Amino acid sequence: MSLAGKKIILCITGSIAAYKSASLTRLLIKAGAEVQVIMTPAATAFITPLTLSTLSKHPVHTEVIDGDSWDNHVELGLWADLMLVAPCTATTLGKMANGIADTMVVATYLSAKCPVHIAPAMDLDMWKHPSTIANIGKLQSYGNHMIPVGHGELASGLHGDGRMAEPEDIVQHVKDHLLQQLPLTGKKVMVTAGPTYEAIDPVRFIGNRSTGKMGIAVAKAFADMGAAVELILGPSSIEVDHAGVTVTRVTSAQQMYEAASAMYPTSDVGVMAAAVADYTPATVATQKIKKADDDLAIALQRTIDIAATLGKEKKNGQLLIGFALETNDEEKNASRKLQKKNFDFIVLNSLNDKGAGFGHDTNKVRIIAKDGQHVEHELKSKTAVAHDIVAEAIRLGL
Ligand code: CTP
Repeated sequence: MSLAGKKIILCITGSIAAYKSASLTRLLIKAGAEVQVIMTPAATAFITPLTLSTLSKHPVHTEVIDGDSWDNHVELGLWADLMLVAPCTATTLGKMANGIADTMVVATYLSAKCPVHIAPAMDLDMWKHPSTIANIGKLQSYGNHMIPVGHGELASGLHGDGRMAEPEDIVQHVKDHLLQQLPLTGKKVMVTAGPTYEAIDPVRFIGNRSTGKMGIAVAKAFADMGAAVELILGPSSIEVDHAGVTVTRVTSAQQMYEAASAMYPTSDVGVMAAAVADYTPATVATQKIKKADDDLAIALQRTIDIAATLGKEKKNGQLLIGFALETNDEEKNASRKLQKKNFDFIVLNSLNDKGAGFGHDTNKVRIIAKDGQHVEHELKSKTAVAHDIVAEAIRLGL
C-alpha cells in the first residue's frame, strides 16, 4: 500500500530514539506521505530541527509561541490525516494523558481530529511503572493507538522492554491502520489489460496497438482503495509496481481467457479492459513461414469472447465492467455490447475524440450503466478516469 496523498504529523520527543526519526521521516515520504514535523524542546538536543526540515521539506515546529508569533497548532491538527508520536517519552505520554499542553506536541494533540498513533520509548523500569501503565490505559480509552515497544538493549545498558519500534515497523503499522479504513478493503477485483498476440509462426503474430495503460491505471485505482487486485496483462512494456496488484502475464486470447475464467468466480468485480484479438490463426506454423511468389492467405478462427463468457457465469452480487473503443455509431455499439455481454456498465471511448484511446496518458470516456445512468466525462488523465470507474463500481454496490 502506498501512503500517497496522506498528510502525517510526526511528533518527536526527547528520547535517544529520536535519532531514528530521520529514517522514519524518509520512509514515510518514500511511501508517498507528506510529513510535517513537531519537536519538543528536549528532542532538539538529540536531533536538529534542520535535519528534519531538510528531510520533510517543511519548517519544523518547536514552540507554541516563537518570539512574537504564535504557531497555529489548531490548523496543524486539522491538516493531518494521521498524527504519529515517535518516539514518545514517559513525560509526553503523561502530558497527553492528562491534557498538559505546555509543548507544541501536546497542544497539537489536543486539537487533532485525526487518528493518533504513539510509539513509546523509555527505560525498562519507566515502562513498567504503574503511572506509565495507567497513562497508556487512559490514552487507549480515548481512542489513541499504541505501537508495541521492542525488546532488547536499552540506552541505560539494561535489557528488556521499552525500545521504540523500528522505523520500518512503525511505517507498516501506519499503513495497516490506513488500509483498514479504505472503502474496498477485503474486496477482490480482477482486471484484464493490454493487447493479445496471436502467433502465426515462431516469429510473427497478429496484435493490436493497446499499451495496457488504461487497464493498469484501473488496477492501481482499485488497489489504492484497498482492494486485492489480480491483473491479467497481455504483452505490455509497462512494469506494474503496486503492493495491492498481483500481475499474471499472458500472451494470447486463449491464455487470457484461461486466467480470467479461473479468477473471476472468486472476484467481486471483473474489469475487462484488454483489447482482445477477435481472431487467431487457425494453425500456427511450427517453422518460420518462407515467402513465395504467390500472395499468402492466413485462415483465421474466432477467439473466445472472454467478457461474454464471464457475463453468462456472473453470479448475484458480482459486477462485470466492460470497455468499448469505437470509431462510429459509438453509443449504439456500446449499448449493444453492454446488453450482449451482461455488463453492469461499459466505458466507452471514441477514436474520434482527441487525446483518447491507445497510447495516450489521457482518455475521454462516457460511462453507460445498465440502470440507465449515462455520464459523459471531460478529457482527463487515465488515472483520473480509473478513479471515476472505481466510483461507479462503488455506486453500483461494490
Ligand atoms: N472482450 C473480451 N474478449 C474478446 C473480445 C472482447 O473480453 N474476445 C471484451 C473487451 O475487453 C471489452 C469488451 O469485450 O471489455 C468489448 O470489446 P470490443 O473489442 O470493443 O468488442 P467486440 O466484442 O470485439 O466487438 P466488435 O469487434 O464488434 O467491436
